[in-house]
Amino acid sequence: MDHGTVDQAPDILISKFEIEQRVAALAAEITRDYRGRTPHLVGILKGAWIFMADLVRHIDIEVTVDFLGITSYGPSPHSSGEVRITKDLDVSIEGREVLIVEDILDTGRTLRFLEEVLTVHKPHTLRVVTLLDKRSRRIVPVHADYVGFEISDVFVVGYGLDFNQKYRRLPDIHVLRQATSP
Ligand code: PRP
Repeated sequence: MDHGTVDQAPDILISKFEIEQRVAALAAEITRDYRGRTPHLVGILKGAWIFMADLVRHIDIEVTVDFLGITSYGPSPHSSGEVRITKDLDVSIEGREVLIVEDILDTGRTLRFLEEVLTVHKPHTLRVVTLLDKRSRRIVPVHADYVGFEISDVFVVGYGLDFNQKYRRLPDIHVLRQATSP
């Protein structure tokens, strides 16, 4: 069997209702903090795309958006620690109030890479919003300015998050029992 099973109700870790409430709250914080400015949201593909789409629709100030594609080398995306860009930004971030939008913060290697790469382009500010934070898994000491949910070390799928590219479409966030975090 090349993938785990997602049983609906028993394995739901965070329901779509809870997600919606929390995303709205995060958007309200961001609206308040950036009032009078136009933040530039950079969504990290692919996992963050659904979160980003919901987040911007709850933000009540003008924003601009872009996307950055990222991939990791090695059999497991979280084991090699080597990250590279698969899709670059479309527009300059120089002087912009940049807000990185991530679906999950795990070891922190990806975010460290992103902060290093984006800082070179001289944004005015660089902050991070992540829907999920697996703080107990951190190897690199990075942190997000806005966190939706802190979760324990379980493998989660749905709401943009995948296992072998599957399950991104699920509206809730589920624990995938058969998969273990490497
Ligand atoms: C996930 C997530 C982060 C990264 C976090 O991406 O979107 O970018 O892992 O892990 P880290 O803190 O250990 O670096 P993933 O590699 O699963 O790719 P995807 O977004 O395309 O699903």
